[in-house]
Amino acid sequence: MARVLGVPIFAALMEVSERPSLRWILQPKKQLPYSARTMNLQSKPSDEVEVSPWDNKGLLQSPELYQYVLETSVYPREPAPLKEIRAITADDPEFFMGTTPDSGQLIAMLLNLLNAKKTIELGVFTGYSLLLTALTIPDDGNIIAIDPDRQSYEMGLPVIQKAGVEHKIDFKNSPALPVLDRLLEDNKNRDSFDFAFVDADKPNYGNYHERLVQLVKIGGLIVYDNTLWYGTLAKPEETVDELMRPERSYLLEFNKFLAEDIRIQISQVPVGDGITICRRLF
Ligand SMILES: C[S@@+](CC[C@H](N)C(=O)[O-])C[C@H]1O[C@@H](n2cnc3c(N)ncnc32)[C@H](O)[C@@H]1O
Repeated sequence: MARVLGVPIFAALMEVSERPSLRWILQPKKQLPYSARTMNLQSKPSDEVEVSPWDNKGLLQSPELYQYVLETSVYPREPAPLKEIRAITADDPEFFMGTTPDSGQLIAMLLNLLNAKKTIELGVFTGYSLLLTALTIPDDGNIIAIDPDRQSYEMGLPVIQKAGVEHKIDFKNSPALPVLDRLLEDNKNRDSFDFAFVDADKPNYGNYHERLVQLVKIGGLIVYDNTLWYGTLAKPEETVDELMRPERSYLLEFNKFLAEDIRIQISQVPVGDGITICRRLF
């Protein structure tokens, strides 16, 4: 498969496919994940329902279709330094943590639409989404980037330096919560950020949200990554790998919480592993 697709990350994906906990990610879905049938919106039992081609609206249904999107619309426009970060990260055992290039493409567009200049990022890893942001915001823009794992950040740092955008980055080697609390102590930080990207520890997403809605300006965006958690949210818990269940349970609650939060407008977008875009309303 790696040779056929000619994409280095797939070599690593094949290695991960040997890991039982992650192997299912690579398997083609046998069922349409969110169709009316699987959501029990129709009265007939699923095996009696006629399959209509119009039933498949909305979500990617096969690894091949996802690969098509990447190869047709994403990779040809992906800046070279981002390809380089992906190549470096492909050798890391946790390579799958990087923000996906298709999500990145959407995030770059959001940053451009907002004319974002002041941003904050929670969860950096080797820096794919960070570099993407640094390449997109203007030369005098600034990103506060927070992660307790400096070692992973330093893997991607030479690429960031070579791309000439390190001066936009203020890396905080720390868990995110104390940094957010310190920022909130100074009134000038409140309502001041154009954009926040959250891709850190999922069980803290609610805590991050309460702080970020105060730090991001009205009209600004908070974007959460992994809100569809490897497609597990609409599957019965017992069919989900035990390793993935705690975050799955948490994200089920978090998604409901965001849907009820009147301070924000939301859109949950099925790119990558699912991102939820939140626009602060007041
Ligand atoms: C999914 S990765 C981030 C991927 C990154 N957005 C990218 O594009 O490569 C999650 C990161 O969150 C970091 N993390 C874990 N707990 C954290 C915390 N309490 N505060 C901030 N970051 C945290 C991890 O160290 C890890 O690097």
